[in-house]
Amino acid sequence: MDKYYRNTWMEVYLDNFLNNVNEVKEHICKDKFMYCVVKGNAYGFGDRQIVGMVEKSEADGVAVATLDCALTIRKYYPNIHILVLGIIGPEYYEIASENNIRVCVANQYGVDAIKKSKLTKPLHIHLKINTGMNRIGFRKLEQAQKALNDLKKVANVDIEGIFSHIATAEDDDKLDYTLMQINTFKKFVTELNYPFKLIHISNSATTLKYDQYLDFITAYRPGFIIYGLKEILPAKYSADLNIKSIFKLKSSVVHTEVYEKGAKISYSNNYTTQKDNEFIATIPLGYADGFRRSESSTKILCKNQVGTIVGNVCMDTFMVRFDKPVNIGDEVTIIGNDEFTNIFKKAESAQTIPQELLVQFGMRVPRKYYINNELVDLQNDLLHK
Ligand SMILES: Cc1ncc(COP(=O)(O)O)c(C=O)c1O
Repeated sequence: MDKYYRNTWMEVYLDNFLNNVNEVKEHICKDKFMYCVVKGNAYGFGDRQIVGMVEKSEADGVAVATLDCALTIRKYYPNIHILVLGIIGPEYYEIASENNIRVCVANQYGVDAIKKSKLTKPLHIHLKINTGMNRIGFRKLEQAQKALNDLKKVANVDIEGIFSHIATAEDDDKLDYTLMQINTFKKFVTELNYPFKLIHISNSATTLKYDQYLDFITAYRPGFIIYGLKEILPAKYSADLNIKSIFKLKSSVVHTEVYEKGAKISYSNNYTTQKDNEFIATIPLGYADGFRRSESSTKILCKNQVGTIVGNVCMDTFMVRFDKPVNIGDEVTIIGNDEFTNIFKKAESAQTIPQELLVQFGMRVPRKYYINNELVDLQNDLLHK
């Protein structure tokens, strides 16, 4: 187990993650293939440990965005099914095939590169169809048909899957667009008339909201729901599932001071104490860790006391006003599951989505992993660069 020498850490509850994966599999995916999306270092929670739990779960494989991430996972897990969802460089198809990593093919440029590659082992490919996300993928049926015909002729290529991605699945007011994407995808699958093993389009929101339109798919690709972020959607969509929160971000007080009225706190004097004897504690977490300046004025908890972040968040620290004194060394919860510190409050303040905040927690924040409240692993990437 790694060590760490800092008063700030993230706790990740691996048993709750495992629970969430199995809930989605048992309630929705059932006998179909289930990818766990582990992009962005598993949404910031650490891909080595998270993929370890996927291996123990009822899910069938993992999906990442880049070949580097896939190769990192392959180092630890020689047998797990890995799909790279993003476009890889033309020179890397051989490396992917040698490492048994499935790849996305999203345009004719990729097809031509595969034709030129010297594949000595099977390359499993998934054709990406652009049904309306307008990011990557074949947009016209003729383009996809040509790609398919070309790839069929390449030795050692296994055309395993076809997939697309929905842009509006979270937006209840854009049902028409979502259905247009689903129908377009269905048309591609039907017209191409190829025995694709894995047909997938469902991120978390599509999995939870639109499964009734997707009897033709054979695989799922949920992300945020397995990380416990069910509140991204209205509660009714996950009401049948027992989804649990999987993390807390914690730290401890490193400095305290009692100020007179009128003291200026942090850069640019953005906060002025309101009265005499105002109690201010300093917490060692800052924007170099991924804790943004826009979190100023959000809440944290210390021994059941709610504190308010005051003044600008610094690179390595921020200051908090408490009504009653706290002590150096007291543990604080910066992001938790309660009404004051949950990730949705923090995301609202930063005018972003929880996923963006999570992936920004960087190497300086050690991750501590728990199963049934017992510490089972600790990762401190900073000391192991
Ligand atoms: C192609 C693709 N599939 C699946 C997902 C998982 O999405 P979500 O976290 O919304 O479930 C993502 C996430 O960005 C994605 O880009």
